[in-house]
Amino acid sequence: MNLVETTRRGEVTVRDLSKSFALNGQRLNVLRNLHLDIRSGEALAIVGPSGCGKTTLLRILAGLDTPDAGLVLIDGRPVHGVGTERAIIFQEPRLLPWLTVLGNVTFGLTVRGVPRSDAETRARHYIRLVGLAEFETAYPRQLSGGMAQRVGIARALTVQPEILLLDEPLGALDAMTKLTMQEELARIWREEKVTMVLVTHDLEEAIFLADRVLVLPRDKPSLPRLIDVDLPRPRDRSEGRFVTMRRRLMGEFGLH
Ligand SMILES: Nc1ncnc2c1ncn2[C@@H]1O[C@H](COP(=O)(O)OP(=O)(O)OP(=O)(O)O)[C@@H](O)[C@H]1O
Ligand SMILES: [Mg+2]
Repeated sequence: MNLVETTRRGEVTVRDLSKSFALNGQRLNVLRNLHLDIRSGEALAIVGPSGCGKTTLLRILAGLDTPDAGLVLIDGRPVHGVGTERAIIFQEPRLLPWLTVLGNVTFGLTVRGVPRSDAETRARHYIRLVGLAEFETAYPRQLSGGMAQRVGIARALTVQPEILLLDEPLGALDAMTKLTMQEELARIWREEKVTMVLVTHDLEEAIFLADRVLVLPRDKPSLPRLIDVDLPRPRDRSEGRFVTMRRRLMGEFGLH
């Protein structure tokens, strides 16, 4: 079978993936024989207790880290390091302080050789998409945390990745900003039709945004579980089925 021809854009295939670290002279198995298929255009949330390997998995998908064993394919091709079809967003936006919002969003394109005027046209589109059109000329120090994170999202989208990898992107935001940003992420995901892999420790956020939730266990004999979030969109947090889903996901962690 030719995987290159049979898979679509932004598909992720993980086979038998294992990763361990040496810690205090001991081997710490973080990921063990993980199998996962992420569909083209899917929103997948990854949840699990602190230290269960969420960031490790995301970094491997991004090509920032290599597994000990196993295979990661993007659209049928093995991952070797970072690639332009994937963009990663961390908890802090890591903007360049000496560049404006427009400069930060354009940067990823100009370093790839896109002519400045084309780069700025594209950057402006994504700055508008994240609702920051009036802040193009602002510097990072003049932005709130939520605004800075939106710049980070615009910067990631500007390179038009097939896969957007997000590691607790809203984790540092206050509760109100977080809710607004969740709505925005839902809209951006819908409009861009990008495959989204979102690490979060907020179970409600996972249900609000994801098609499926991957629950990673901390104790490795337990197996990862995939839960379908079969709820219509746009989602309503107060709706009965949403509440039931949240309760079910909390149950995965022994919470009620
Ligand atoms: N470079 C490294 N060297 C050694 N150990 C590491 C390294 N990176 C991660 N680990 C260990 O691997 C385990 C998983 O780390 P990881 O960052 O993936 O967890 P996480 O699920 O993202 O946790 P959190 O929710 O706290 O962000 C942790 O026990 C951590 O100590
Ligand atoms: Mg982490």
